[in-house]
Amino acid sequence: MKGLRYCIYVLTAAIHCYMLLVAAQTTHPSEVSALISIKGSLIDNMKHLNDWKWGDPCTSHWTGVFCNISDADGYLHVRELRFMNKNLSGSLSPELGQLSHLRILNFMWNNLTGSIPKEIGSITTLKLLLLNGNQLSGSLADELGNLSNLNRFQIDQNEISGEIPKSFANLKKIRHIHFNNNSLSGQIPHELSNLSTILHLLLDNNNLSGYLPPEFSVLADLAILQLDNNNFSGSEIPASYGNLSSLLKLSVRNCSLQGSIPDFSRIANLSYLDLSWNQLSGSIPQNKLSNNMTTIILSHNRLNGSIPKSFSLLPSLQKLSLENNFLNGSISTDIWQNKIFNTTSRLVIDLRNNSVSNISGAFEPPVNVTLRFQSNPICSSTSIRNIGKYCGPDFGADDDDPSYSTNPSGVCPIHACPTDNYYEYVPASPKPCFCASPLRIGYRLKSPSISYFDPLQAIIRVLCD
Ligand SMILES: *[C@@H]1O[C@H](CO)[C@@H](O)[C@H](O)[C@H]1NC(C)=O
Ligand SMILES: *[C@@H]1O[C@H](CO)[C@@H](O)[C@H](O)[C@H]1NC(C)=O
Ligand SMILES: *[C@@H]1O[C@H](CO)[C@@H](O)[C@H](O)[C@H]1NC(C)=O
Ligand SMILES: *[C@@H]1O[C@H](CO)[C@@H](O)[C@H](O)[C@H]1NC(C)=O
Ligand SMILES: *[C@@H]1O[C@H](CO)[C@@H](O)[C@H](O)[C@H]1NC(C)=O
Ligand SMILES: *[C@@H]1O[C@H](CO)[C@@H](O)[C@H](O)[C@H]1NC(C)=O
Ligand SMILES: *[C@@H]1O[C@H](CO)[C@@H](O)[C@H](O)[C@H]1NC(C)=O
Ligand SMILES: *[C@@H]1O[C@H](CO)[C@@H](O)[C@H](O)[C@H]1NC(C)=O
Ligand SMILES: *[C@@H]1O[C@H](CO)[C@@H](O)[C@H](O)[C@H]1NC(C)=O
Ligand SMILES: *[C@@H]1O[C@H](CO)[C@@H](O)[C@H](O)[C@H]1NC(C)=O
Ligand SMILES: *[C@@H]1O[C@H](CO)[C@@H](O)[C@H](O)[C@H]1NC(C)=O
Ligand SMILES: *[C@@H]1O[C@H](CO)[C@@H](O)[C@H](O)[C@H]1NC(C)=O
Repeated sequence: MKGLRYCIYVLTAAIHCYMLLVAAQTTHPSEVSALISIKGSLIDNMKHLNDWKWGDPCTSHWTGVFCNISDADGYLHVRELRFMNKNLSGSLSPELGQLSHLRILNFMWNNLTGSIPKEIGSITTLKLLLLNGNQLSGSLADELGNLSNLNRFQIDQNEISGEIPKSFANLKKIRHIHFNNNSLSGQIPHELSNLSTILHLLLDNNNLSGYLPPEFSVLADLAILQLDNNNFSGSEIPASYGNLSSLLKLSVRNCSLQGSIPDFSRIANLSYLDLSWNQLSGSIPQNKLSNNMTTIILSHNRLNGSIPKSFSLLPSLQKLSLENNFLNGSISTDIWQNKIFNTTSRLVIDLRNNSVSNISGAFEPPVNVTLRFQSNPICSSTSIRNIGKYCGPDFGADDDDPSYSTNPSGVCPIHACPTDNYYEYVPASPKPCFCASPLRIGYRLKSPSISYFDPLQAIIRVLCD
């Protein structure tokens, strides 16, 4: 009798165990129906999602669907949707909002159209929202500001228009905002100065206007700020940006900015500064910039006064681009004379179209220094030996004009970079077709390159967050 009761007990336990096991192997029903709707709004010409028909999405391993069990309800939940480069067109279904345990939403490099559903804003577990390289349009919904766990918000290279919502100030854990190459307009909300964790803020190549928020100077981790090719007509570069203590790269090329250049000498690791193609005036601040400075591009402005002596004290300098300004006085040969060149380092100094009238120091440029002096009074000097060699127009294309390349053919051969997808061209490099390898964590993260001769190290530091 005792034996039988024990036997029944064991049996019931086993049945319970079995039932739990069965429950554990099922995708949550609301997520199954969401996935079916999601597929319904996609156009899958290459039939990558053909297996989205049979069985359970999680246990049958539907293409691109990655799941995990939840201890709370015993169901399997979709944690990641991974559809990078799958030739998908069609649109994103609002049903995406039903995937309430999603951490990664990855539709990079497809042909999606339509807008980004506001329902995505309800997936508060979301860490990576990767929609770059599509043809998404429409404006950004306020609701997306509810993504309080989002680390990476990547929608670059789409056709998104409208303003950046002020509600994005609530993205409390955001590290990367890549909104470049869209059609965003209006003022950059000063509320974004609340994004205390932000590392990369890329808003270049949009239609933004208004002024640059001085409040951004409180962003203590901000390493890369790119605003090129917007129109902040009437605005200046806030002097407070000299307080952006973690800044590595500041690029505000072609933004219709006026006023003078702020003092960036307090930024310890600044490496890349591009303020070209604006209407900046006054003289260049004389204080010494960071030792890490590799690139200074101030060309095509209205700068006057002399070339700072402190430019001679920048050991890592590789490019000093000052052409098309009103600079006068003399240039010191110290800028290039005492540099130690190894096989990879090189220095390009472009002073074309200024009023520089003298050279101080012995003029014997080393072989790995490129000097461009054309259209300066020094070029008519008879006392400087060999000056003519640096004054000719025979350098070809304007190296600072983005429409030209240092490569004679203008394009890099398709296999010039290693083909494993972990490398990309560094277009700013004076070496044609220079390749850099930003750190990538399992999926392709597009990140800007900030230095051209030691890019790997610098970028790893920027991305390891
Ligand atoms: C699933 O859970 C395991 C262990 O908890 C974790 O290592 C893994 O990253 C999770 N996968 C996803 C896609 O969230
Ligand atoms: C995408 O489509 C193009 C042409 O339609 C094809 O050559 C390419 O192989 C497809 N790629 C994938 C990943 O399906
Ligand atoms: C997008 O569509 C165009 C033509 O419509 C095609 O050439 C291109 O390969 C597609 N790209 C992707 C990533 O599917
Ligand atoms: C999400 O954001 C919108 C607009 O920003 C707000 O109205 C709504 O209450 C938020 N929803 C939740 C669940 O917090
Ligand atoms: C962004 O747009 C600019 C200007 O049209 C273009 O030169 C640049 O290549 C684009 N960037 C990317 C990553 O496509
Ligand atoms: C910014 O953060 C502060 C303090 O956390 C808060 O009081 C303020 O309301 C926030 N402003 C916006 C626009 O989110
Ligand atoms: C850019 O924004 C201005 C208003 O600031 C508008 O007049 C213009 O049409 C926009 N241009 C594009 C290409 O969207
Ligand atoms: C920038 O905007 C101003 C007025 O808002 C306009 O006059 C100017 O032409 C624009 N500049 C460019 C380069 O589009
Ligand atoms: C930079 O920060 C210091 C210390 O917080 C402050 O005194 C100074 O006014 C700031 N400079 C600018 C230009 O905002
Ligand atoms: C700046 O230069 C110093 C000394 O050369 C180096 O230790 C440091 O890593 C550099 N910082 C960055 C961000 O590259
Ligand atoms: C060349 O010099 C730079 C700094 O000037 C250094 O970072 C780099 O490692 C050197 N390269 C080689 C191959 O020695
Ligand atoms: C100049 O650079 C080349 C490679 O571009 C290198 O082979 C050569 O050693 C360098 N010369 C000097 C003097 O540093």
